[in-house]
Amino acid sequence: MCGITGYIGDGDCSTIIARSLKNLEYRGYDSAGVALLDGTLEVHKQSGQIDDLTIPSMPNATCGIGHTRWSTHGAPTDANAHPHTDCSGDVAVVHNGIIDNYEAFKRELGDDHEFTSETDTEVIAHLIEDALADDADLRDAVEDVVAMLEGSFAIAVTAVGHEGIVAARQDSPLVIGHTDDATFLGSDVTAFVEYTRRVTFLEDGDIARLTESDVTITNGDTLVERERQTVDWDADAAEKGGYEHYMRKEIHEQPHAVRQALSGRVDELAGAVDLDLSLSREYCNSLDEIQIIACGTSYYAGLYAAELLERHADVRVSVHVASEYEFRGNRDPWRTLVVAVTQSGETADTLRALRKAAGAGARTLAVTNTVGSTVAREVDDTVYIRSGPEIGVAATKTFASQVTTLALVTVYLGRQRNAISSNEASTILRGLSAVPGAIQQVLDAEPAVRETAEEYADGDAFFFIGRRFGHPVALEGALKLKEISYDHAEGFPGGELKHGPLALVTEQTPVVAVLTEGTNADETLHNVKEVESRGAPVIGVTSETDPNPVFDTALEVPAIGLMEPVVANVYLQLFAYHVANQKGRSIDKPRNLAKSVTVE
Ligand code: M6R
Repeated sequence: MCGITGYIGDGDCSTIIARSLKNLEYRGYDSAGVALLDGTLEVHKQSGQIDDLTIPSMPNATCGIGHTRWSTHGAPTDANAHPHTDCSGDVAVVHNGIIDNYEAFKRELGDDHEFTSETDTEVIAHLIEDALADDADLRDAVEDVVAMLEGSFAIAVTAVGHEGIVAARQDSPLVIGHTDDATFLGSDVTAFVEYTRRVTFLEDGDIARLTESDVTITNGDTLVERERQTVDWDADAAEKGGYEHYMRKEIHEQPHAVRQALSGRVDELAGAVDLDLSLSREYCNSLDEIQIIACGTSYYAGLYAAELLERHADVRVSVHVASEYEFRGNRDPWRTLVVAVTQSGETADTLRALRKAAGAGARTLAVTNTVGSTVAREVDDTVYIRSGPEIGVAATKTFASQVTTLALVTVYLGRQRNAISSNEASTILRGLSAVPGAIQQVLDAEPAVRETAEEYADGDAFFFIGRRFGHPVALEGALKLKEISYDHAEGFPGGELKHGPLALVTEQTPVVAVLTEGTNADETLHNVKEVESRGAPVIGVTSETDPNPVFDTALEVPAIGLMEPVVANVYLQLFAYHVANQKGRSIDKPRNLAKSVTVE
């Protein structure tokens, strides 16, 4: 995620903002910048490392804002880095999140304002410029502008001629820090925890005016008091948002990550999605097949997507482990769409496979988390999954975001190819918008998963079974567990058990079965019986509507239709996490593994 920092006080503003930016470095970023106010506004920003950013010493500056950017709109360039300013250069804005309706504003403001970036954020600065033209107070101007914005955002604004910083929060966190002679702002406590632990967390809809000695917060027309708290986190805990590991933090970020993947792309009523793709209706209808190439967790997201695409876009799909891929196209390779699914966008095996396909003349599409990555630079089209940086080596939130994004690609292709009606598309999109809430319910059930994990942590080996959409989830559950707990774990389609793996099943091998909607649960139940009769304990992840759960432990997924298996996967992530934690493993950096595998 991007990071925000702000400071108002008598201290050395430029040094404090520079330190706060460094503190936010752990979140991952591709560019950074600051705006410092000492009567005039000085903005310094650039792509690349914070250490390379020149932040001038400005002894008279008493107010500043800073930002670390993880690109979502526009490449990681100097121009796209935050802060963004209005035409006069007197208003500076930093922003986390996504403004869904920025393009409409950009068109509207186009003739009278000069835009210098490709970002959604810049429209905020220009809208505030217009709002200030009538001598408005900065807080009132921000309030007027925020009322027009759709999407998720946390923003901080400072402007020449106006005291302090105005901050606004909608679906993206912001926290204020207090000392006796200064006020701080951060997207999380890490930004300023070395200066103060006295904090106020803003809530959705809050607009705060921060001065050196005072903070006033309004929500709608009401002046509100938010509780001032003292956090006892040290810098390390603060980086992890109070979680013990990045992996657990990232598991808990999934509702937000999925919302970001959907944000601004979906018209549920019309059954339409807008992914900014250059795939014309004519091309979509001329498609012979889709080949998905990926590794590890991304490969399993690809398997999930293949089911979706075959069902709803009426297209033949094959999914390939990238390291094994050879392009076998037809006489017109361009009619094969090769989709590279990769969180990092830098995985060597995936890039090598992609180059083989592109070299043979196939059309290419990347589904990635990383703007400006090698994969994004080499393909014909890119769709970003918008998860924000993932630091734990074990991929978690990016799986949910990849599947969500690939489901949007499915709806796009399905509509272009007339494989689904707009009503059917609306139903799929409604199912997708239910995913964040359903994941949250699973996260709320974490104590029960921890207990289950503690009960079974000493198993000799773990098996995961599931059919249809449950199959990639079973594979992903097994990968997660082996990766971080070092236990032997395997995933199978339920029907394969009797063809060999059943020989391994004993009372000491817990079996996790995925039996939600979309998994042919009735058939998997037969396999559950097979392992139960060999004495294996069974953890059943079922739809909450399942009338007869018959398991040693039942974990229920809210009934949301075809996306239930993605939600079920969150149980498997939590299970893996708590088994590994129980064993004291190095969860965020498992032995022998790297986050981004840049060697073949
Ligand atoms: O960055 P990518 O999505 O291309 O990475 C692919 C795999 O290396 C990755 O998913 C790996 O399997 C994870 N460690 C799984 O948790």
